[in-house]
Amino acid sequence: MAYFAMRLLHISTMHVRFMGMVALVGVAYGVVVLKEASYLRLPNRNGQYVVNSRTARESAYDDARSYLYVVGRDTAMLHIISLADPANPQEVYTHNFDVAADGRPLDVELCRAAGVTPTLAVTFDGQDSVAFEGHLVLYNLFESSSDTLTPLNPTDPRITVGAHPDNMKFTSDCRRLVVSNEGEPRVVEGTFYDPEGTVSVVTFSTTPGAIPTVTTIDFRKFDEQSELVPILDKGVRYWLRRDPNDPSNIIQFSQNVEPEYVAISPSNGFAYITLQENNAIARIDLENSVITSLYAMGNKSWEFLTLDASDRDNGIAMASRKIRSLYQPDKVAFFTWGADIPYLVTTDEGRPTNIPGVTFQDYARAASLNWNIDDATLGSELTNSAELGRLYVSNVDGFDDTPNVPYAFGGRGFSIWNTQSMERTWESGDELERYSRQHFPTTFNGNCATFSQTPAQEMDARSTWMGPEPNSVAVGNFNGRTVLVIGSGRNGMLFVYTLQPNVNNPTPEFQSVHRAGEIDATWENLYAREDMGDAIISDIKFSSSGTPKVIVTSEASGSVSVYTLVDETWPATEL
Ligand SMILES: *[C@@H]1O[C@H](CO)[C@@H](O)[C@H](O)[C@H]1NC(C)=O
Repeated sequence: MAYFAMRLLHISTMHVRFMGMVALVGVAYGVVVLKEASYLRLPNRNGQYVVNSRTARESAYDDARSYLYVVGRDTAMLHIISLADPANPQEVYTHNFDVAADGRPLDVELCRAAGVTPTLAVTFDGQDSVAFEGHLVLYNLFESSSDTLTPLNPTDPRITVGAHPDNMKFTSDCRRLVVSNEGEPRVVEGTFYDPEGTVSVVTFSTTPGAIPTVTTIDFRKFDEQSELVPILDKGVRYWLRRDPNDPSNIIQFSQNVEPEYVAISPSNGFAYITLQENNAIARIDLENSVITSLYAMGNKSWEFLTLDASDRDNGIAMASRKIRSLYQPDKVAFFTWGADIPYLVTTDEGRPTNIPGVTFQDYARAASLNWNIDDATLGSELTNSAELGRLYVSNVDGFDDTPNVPYAFGGRGFSIWNTQSMERTWESGDELERYSRQHFPTTFNGNCATFSQTPAQEMDARSTWMGPEPNSVAVGNFNGRTVLVIGSGRNGMLFVYTLQPNVNNPTPEFQSVHRAGEIDATWENLYAREDMGDAIISDIKFSSSGTPKVIVTSEASGSVSVYTLVDETWPATEL
C-alpha cells in the first residue's frame, strides 16, 4: 500500500517536471469533497430552539464583509451571521419583522458594485387578501457588527411588486433587481383567487438618492390564442384552466403562470425565470422589459434509465419503466464555458400541485387512474403497488395520447442548457438516485416530515413522488475547476460535480455526495443534539473568494452549514 502510494507520488513528480501545468490536476489523485466547517442552528422569535421552526429559508452572502443574511418565512425573521471564521460563525444581529405591518419575508439578496450604494433587499408576501400585492424593502448592508438594520429610504421604504414575490436576483452591476411574483392560486374565505404571475424589474438610478423605478411584466400576451397555441404545442403546461369552485370562471394562462426562480445572464442583459408548474422557462429582455420567449423544459423517458417508484418494494428497487416524467425545474444558475458561452443549470425537482381549500390537484396515484395502455407489462405495473401503482403521476398530461402516456413529476436530476441555442446539452439521467443508493442507502429517497420518526424510518418515502427531488444549486470555483453543488432538499444530500476541462460542452462529472447529520434517533432528538444535519435544504450559496465555501440553509433543521472544499480520495473507507 505505502509502496504503491510512493510510486504514484513519483510518477506525479515526473509529470510535473515534464508536463508542467497538466500534471497539477493529477497530483491530488482525488475528487472534490465537502468538509463540514461549522453548523449553526438559528433560534425562533422567542430565542428558543425548536425543531422545524423554519428560521432559515433563503440566504445571501456578502463576500466583502463575510456576513450571511438569512430570512425565515414562518418566523418572519432576519438573522445576520458573521462567517469571518467559517469554523466559528457568530450571530451579530437579529430582526423580527412585524407580520401584521410588514408581511412575511420570502427572499433576501444583496449587491455591492462600484458606484452603487451597497444594498440588501428583502421581499415580503402580500397581506391584502384581494390584490395580494407583495413588496420589497431595500436596506443598507452591514459594514460592521455594530450596525443596525436601516432602510435606504426611511420615509418610504416599500416598493410594491406583484403577488407572492418568492425570489429575486440583482444584476452583477447592481443596476437592476429582478423579482419573480409567483401568484399562486389560493382560497380566501371560500373564494378562489389565482393572482397573475408577473416579473418586476426594479431599475436603480445612477443619481444617488433617486427613487428606483419598477416595471412589472405580465404574461397577458399569451392569453391570445395566436400566442397561446404555439407555446402549448411546444409543451408549456397550462394546468389550471377553470376555477375549481366555479367552472364558468376561466383561469387565463397569465394567471396560471407561476414565476418561480430567477437567474441573470452573465451579460446582465436577460433574466431567465423558471415557471416550474408550467414546465417552462421565461426569458426576459431587461433593456426593453419584455418577455422574448417561453421555452418548454420537456420530459424524459425512463425506458433506459432506472428509478425507484414505490415505497412498498422492500426498500430500494430501481428498475426501468416505460413511463416519462416532466422536468419542472426549480432553482437555476448561470455559468460560462468555452468562449464565454452562457449555460444554465436547472434543478429538475418536479411540482405536483394541490390548492388548499379546493379539491383540485393535478396528480393521482397511478393505480387510481383509468389507463388506455397497449403494453401489457406497463399496464400491470401501473396497478401493482410494488411497481408503479403508488407513483404519483399527472392526471392532466398524457391522456390525449393514444395509448396514454404516464407522466411522473420531476427529472430526478439536473440539466445543463446552452442558452445561445437553448438546447439541453447534458442531463444527469438516474445518477442522483444511483449515487444515493450507493453511498446513503439508509436515507435513500428519504423525507423529513414526521419529527417523531428517525431519518431511516422515512427512507424511501419520496420514491412515489419525485425521488431525490433536487431543488437547489450553487456554482463556484475551486482549484481552477468549476464546481456544481446540487441540493436534494428533503433527504439532505449535497451532490458535488465538477465540469470536465477540455470538453466542448460542459460535462458534469460526479465527485462526491455529502449528507450531514446522524440517523440513530428521531428527528426531534437529533435536532436537540445538533445532529439533524441539513434537513429540507432550501438554499445553497457558493463563495469562491478567499477560502472557497459552500453555505447551506435548511428549513426543518433551521440551520446554516458551512462547508469548505478539499481535493481528496473519496470515500475514505474505499479499498
Ligand atoms: C414529451 O416529450 C415528447 C418528445 O420530446 C413530446 O412529443 C411530448 O409532447 C411531451 N409530452 C408532454 C406532456 O409535454
